[in-house]
Amino acid sequence: MLKIKKTKLHVASALLLGGLMSASSMSFAETLKLSHNGDTKSPVHKALKFFADEVEEKTDGDLKVRVYPNGQLGTQRESLELLQSGALDMAKSNASELESFDPVYGAFNIPYIFRDREHFYRALESEDVGQKILSSSEKYGFVGVAYFDAGSRNFYTSKPVHSPADLKGMKIRVQPSPSAIKMMELMGASPTPLPFGELYTALQQRVVDGAENNIGAVTTYRHGEVAKYYTRDGHAMIPDVLVISTKTWETLSDKNKAAVLDAGKEATAYMKKIWGEYTEEELVKATKMGVEIIDVDKDPFIEAVAPMFQEAEQNPVIAPYVKAIKALDK
Ligand code: GCU
Repeated sequence: MLKIKKTKLHVASALLLGGLMSASSMSFAETLKLSHNGDTKSPVHKALKFFADEVEEKTDGDLKVRVYPNGQLGTQRESLELLQSGALDMAKSNASELESFDPVYGAFNIPYIFRDREHFYRALESEDVGQKILSSSEKYGFVGVAYFDAGSRNFYTSKPVHSPADLKGMKIRVQPSPSAIKMMELMGASPTPLPFGELYTALQQRVVDGAENNIGAVTTYRHGEVAKYYTRDGHAMIPDVLVISTKTWETLSDKNKAAVLDAGKEATAYMKKIWGEYTEEELVKATKMGVEIIDVDKDPFIEAVAPMFQEAEQNPVIAPYVKAIKALDK
């Protein structure tokens, strides 16, 4: 009995010694936790998994990323707060939500600021706009890594909407952001900020009469089961943003930082491709679910929110970006 115990002890000390030796001669692989509020079937989940695989490959396994979907680690707001305190490493958020954490993100949230998807991508890729915005928030506790296409945002409601006049008196869920609230007020509706994860129930229980988002909200997140009209006024194109905690960022080696940024660029390109295909397919699915697609004259919607554009041009924090975005509209 004693003999066996001794042997065990020797094995244990040999392992310990081996462990200590290897610890001194090599660094351990680190795993970063990444939180997001999307479904595992959503394109953004696929893009984040793609990002995680790229990081692992580019660092030869030195750095790994574990993706936690479905808001398991909290809402977008909660994830950002965890990021700021260093309790979480990475999160996918949205420029709308991020506006409350770093006001420069507000530049993306001005309704109708982008003419089309090409204009939107020119702005994201521009050093003076998208890339500068990503690096502006280090002082607020997070660093932007990459953008993801999140489509064009449109209303989906329990009653048909053909013009801003139809929105009067309707309670419309918005992202928790000052711009989203302002936009909805100008359009004549009553804005109700809610986390995305609470929206299905809110629609079902008629806490709100509708919301606004890309077509995936209607299909992948099944909101079309309870809101049967989708009005294509295309009021905004607001990118999703992958961010990393400043505290985590500061612990990474230069090589790993570069790998994270490169993987982010590749994930943006991957998302650009899959997003286009997804949107087409989801539009067909929405119709099959019995959702009526309503095409409208956008002018009355554009006129209703015009004051936001004028205000943005006077706002010293976002005015330079708004101007640069406008200049990219060629
Ligand atoms: C889009 C976006 C999400 C966001 C959601 C929302 O789906 O991709 O990041 O959370 O809108 O309206 O909250």
